Amino acid sequence: MDQKYEDFKRLVKENSDIVEIISGYVTLQKKGRYYWACCPFHGEKTPSFSVDKERQFFYCYGCHTGGDVFTFVEKIENSTFAEAIKTLASRANIPIPESHRTAADIQKEEKRKEMYSVNELASRYFSACLHKTDFGKKVLSYLHNRGITDETIEQFSLGAALPGFHSLQKNLQKKGVSSEHLSDAGLIRGTGGNFRDMFIGRVMIPIKDPKGRVIAFGGRVMDDGLPKYLNTGETVVFQKRETLFGLDVAIKAIREAKEAIVVEGYMDAISLHAAGIVRTVASLGTAFSEQHAKLLHRITETVVFAYDSDDAGRRNAARAVSIAKREGLFVKVLNVPEGKDPDEYVRKFGRDAFESLVKNAWNGTEFQIRYTISKNNVSELAGKVQCVSNIIPYLKECRNEIEAASYIKFLSQQLVIDEALIMGEYRKAAAQAFSGRKESVSSEMPVQSAPNALVQAERNLLLLLFTYPGMIIRYKEILLQTGFLSSARQNIFEQICKMDNPSLDTIRDTLFATGDEAIRSETAGIFTSGEIAPDEESRVQLADDCIRRMRRNYLQQEYESHRHLAETYACMNDARYVEELKICNELRGKITDLYGN
Ligand code: CTP
Ligand code: MN
Repeated sequence: MDQKYEDFKRLVKENSDIVEIISGYVTLQKKGRYYWACCPFHGEKTPSFSVDKERQFFYCYGCHTGGDVFTFVEKIENSTFAEAIKTLASRANIPIPESHRTAADIQKEEKRKEMYSVNELASRYFSACLHKTDFGKKVLSYLHNRGITDETIEQFSLGAALPGFHSLQKNLQKKGVSSEHLSDAGLIRGTGGNFRDMFIGRVMIPIKDPKGRVIAFGGRVMDDGLPKYLNTGETVVFQKRETLFGLDVAIKAIREAKEAIVVEGYMDAISLHAAGIVRTVASLGTAFSEQHAKLLHRITETVVFAYDSDDAGRRNAARAVSIAKREGLFVKVLNVPEGKDPDEYVRKFGRDAFESLVKNAWNGTEFQIRYTISKNNVSELAGKVQCVSNIIPYLKECRNEIEAASYIKFLSQQLVIDEALIMGEYRKAAAQAFSGRKESVSSEMPVQSAPNALVQAERNLLLLLFTYPGMIIRYKEILLQTGFLSSARQNIFEQICKMDNPSLDTIRDTLFATGDEAIRSETAGIFTSGEIAPDEESRVQLADDCIRRMRRNYLQQEYESHRHLAETYACMNDARYVEELKICNELRGKITDLYGN
């Protein structure tokens, strides 16, 4: 076995949370222990696709597809197992071991490396231009005028793009960078011999990844010219929706404060950092995305949106709150008074004043409610009705019913409407959202597709044996004789019998490592099949119950086949029918014995 590759696989798995990955493809809803969705692998209207975060498995009770995070990606992307691992590895920024890199992988990695290095060289060049040219002096005083200190300039590696059409291109070409690479990095544009610099006469703001590598740039004009900002387009190392500006410098402070402040603009972020509020990142003009929320959720529980207080800013904030709430973050929104953006505010009133805005920030849902009320004419009944129906989706995003109920109360007070009426609307909407149909009541497991009792018993038993492998020896013999209904479960049982006192992890990994699709999907089914009693007595009782069911089925089938044989012999006047009838009687006795007399 290739240990390096195994380590790699484990690392990728540890860094690919199944709920996070799957919710990139379908919208999951948490109900009880599991997350649920309509299955992406077969058409359905009621969700029978379940994801177990704790055990890192998914399983569909409708089409019986199941597996771990690798299986999911493999199926949904229609790729091979090896490709699925690579997809997840590159998502988690984990390098593929050399022994397993294909020519295409090597090329991709080379390309990324090349892009990092081109961007780094460009950043150094822009920085040199800032400090060593006359144009740079102008940029420097522009920055100083905006209250940005030299320390912050240094920290964010701010720079200047000279007014010439080819200054970056010429400089980097001298250092051996090809036009092709410059163009791929979005630093020059045009075709053939007609390249020109992308950024001309601008303040340069490098965008870095969380590791501090430069992956793109934003460039601002120093006058009222348009566009105000010019940004690098998407490249192999830069995806806007996955990048938060300033995260590299803010990450430590966010972890320590257990809170991140999210602003809309470069200058807001830079300015707050300059003022000493360093737990700040910016979502850079693009809407705050699910990926942004996930990125932040890995390092903190609380997000404070500090968006512009103009109408666009508040609309964006309401949307951003929804995304962050759905990710399970605790969300606040601060209200920057006097129509200012955070940059202007902190420069005028200082750090303490801004921190007290943070302290007094509204809870995300409260902000959404207040915002919606301000957009409707709630002095009239029609406006109130509209307002309630606009707010219901926000209530549904709440972490739990208690939270939703408290906002319903708040809303009823604000609108002077009976609380019960709003609650009724909310209930109706909540039921519809989950079932997709009005009449169906959501339950943990859709009844119509639930596996029958015997299948369930076999799975429960296997889960029990997985969890307490010490019990295997006790039941081995009887189970080998009785057998399991499906060959996949039979196979699984035989495999665990062969293992020498395995751990739960070993069992899972071994079963998933088998190339057999049926085994992998059955393993997932077993892992999502139920809960295990903590005490020994109920475990033994559970095992006995399961085995009894299996025994009964086994004995009944034996009985049927011997009875059939007996009848056949009898028809043929074959004396062996007496022997068969005897066996039938014995089996009958055993079946009644199973349940005591
Ligand atoms: N933006 C952009 N392109 C534009 C305008 C804005 O990419 N033409 C993005 C930038 O990331 C900018 C953010 O949207 O930082 C917010 O825009 P705005 O509030 O106008 O910018 P500020 O950061 O406030 O910039 P400044 O204070 O320098 O005007
Ligand atoms: Mn601004």
